[in-house]
Amino acid sequence: MTHSEKQLSTSVLVIGTGGSGLRAAIELAEAGVDVLAVGKRPKADAHTSLAAGGINAALATMDPEDTWQQHAADTLKESYLLANPHTVQIVTEGAARGIEDLERYGMPFAREQSGVISQRFFGAHTFRRTAFAGDYTGLEIQRTLINRAAQLEISIIDTLYVSRLLVKDNAVFGAYGFDLQDGTRYVIHADAVILAAGGHNRIWRRTSSRRDENTGDSFRLAVEAGARLRDPELVQFHPSGIIEPESAAGTLISEAARGEGGILRNGLGERFMGKYDPERLELSTRDRVALACYTEIKEGRGTANGGVWLDVSHLPREVIMQRLPRVYQTMLELQMLDITKEPIEIAPTAHYSMGGVWVRPEDHGTDVDGLYAIGEASSGLHGANRLGGNSLIELLVFGRIVGQAAAAYSAGLSAQKRSSAAVDWARAEVDELLAADGEENVRALQRAIRNTMTEHAGVVRDEAGLLAGLAELDAIEARIAHIGVHPDIAGYQDLAHAFDLKSAALAARATLQAALERRETRGCHNRSDYPDLDPALQVNLVWSADGTIAHEAIPAIPDEIAALMHEEVSVAGKLAE
Ligand code: FUM
Repeated sequence: MTHSEKQLSTSVLVIGTGGSGLRAAIELAEAGVDVLAVGKRPKADAHTSLAAGGINAALATMDPEDTWQQHAADTLKESYLLANPHTVQIVTEGAARGIEDLERYGMPFAREQSGVISQRFFGAHTFRRTAFAGDYTGLEIQRTLINRAAQLEISIIDTLYVSRLLVKDNAVFGAYGFDLQDGTRYVIHADAVILAAGGHNRIWRRTSSRRDENTGDSFRLAVEAGARLRDPELVQFHPSGIIEPESAAGTLISEAARGEGGILRNGLGERFMGKYDPERLELSTRDRVALACYTEIKEGRGTANGGVWLDVSHLPREVIMQRLPRVYQTMLELQMLDITKEPIEIAPTAHYSMGGVWVRPEDHGTDVDGLYAIGEASSGLHGANRLGGNSLIELLVFGRIVGQAAAAYSAGLSAQKRSSAAVDWARAEVDELLAADGEENVRALQRAIRNTMTEHAGVVRDEAGLLAGLAELDAIEARIAHIGVHPDIAGYQDLAHAFDLKSAALAARATLQAALERRETRGCHNRSDYPDLDPALQVNLVWSADGTIAHEAIPAIPDEIAALMHEEVSVAGKLAE
């Protein structure tokens, strides 16, 4: 079969049409810079649309004492001191502007009767600073950004799978890919590339990501281009993913359910968070609530299906209908369960890649000239525990900054070197996969990776398990050499799945190796063989393609923020089992 190949060129190529990619593209288009955004999923159904409970900014509409400095202090403290203070300051100080941008684009935030934006509590925030649109916040943001992109006539191709970045002398000059429907190949020349293709949490079995999203694509594309990863082991497990049906296991029940007063009970009917965090209870940090749920289940106090109960049935019906409409609908659709009357059976679910591609704090440039990463693909803001609602504001703030940085890079280029060898290599890689007719099945191997990660790199880890995980991964990679790829008249999804599989394998290896190296318990990373926090490991772990891991120092926290971080960062009592 021969495939036609098209050439496109643009000043800035954005890979990923979720919130961060669109926000960056909007910044570029508003500045009059030529931009093309491509993605592998329908833009209206990007992962951002699943983000539920809210977006953070210290607007002080509900609690006048709130400040961006307090938001920064909360973010740094709850990151267990692994967030980069510079990144945190940029996001928290710029958050109000991010919300203003959304308002300017027409975002329908929930409002108080006075007209100010409503803000609710999310776990571990000192004040109410999470703005929202019911529990459809991400969906409304995505719709708002799509509308703005349409007004600006931004070119978007959301059926284009990028298989490789094109690099010459450590500078990116575009990307290679193919159309998911008809297989047409694309060589896209660009001065700069913004990688906005998400994280890697779909490589666990129970995850809040859907099939074929967050499969580690950003990690592979960046690493193969010459970039490094920072803290890939730091993956947030959200406390509340549903258990059944199996096909939807891990689907998120928003933290908004606890923010509005939801209660957690174990299989014995006991409200258990008092044992783990007597003051904050259900509004403790995500890592603690997830670990508490895990511990109750592991120690035999779970439900019959291996979960715990999240109950909102005591809340007034109108609170549920106005503030948790998505949870209400989701549970009716998936389980025919009425949450105004019955509790929800939940268990921890892989939710967010807090680590990601190594980027500079100030502009999210990577190790590769002209290549930027943004959103869940990037790293620096969340450290070892992300505050719910911080990722949506991150994409607004860095969308603007990275758009501007890429525009400046493009404008500053006096010439660009390209490489026909790099294009040939990318073309040959797709040819080779299309010709693959081995007996190993791509879907089965994706499942094998997810089983390995679930078994050996879940909420609680130890050295023996992580080593066993790496050995299993070696075996899976050997099988990947014998896959068969069979696009059919329905499209080229099977080819995309094969690339997703390669991405998942790379992301799994980086995660397992960095998890082995982090011999401590900190935030989401619970090592049962190292139950204490190790001050010497208050560093970022930077992973390179050859498997080496560098320890990267974290800059000091500015005094005005440190003064607001009242309690010490501790993991005392975390690993109760
Ligand atoms: O629970 C939630 O609504 C998730 C929000 C987030 O992860 O930011």
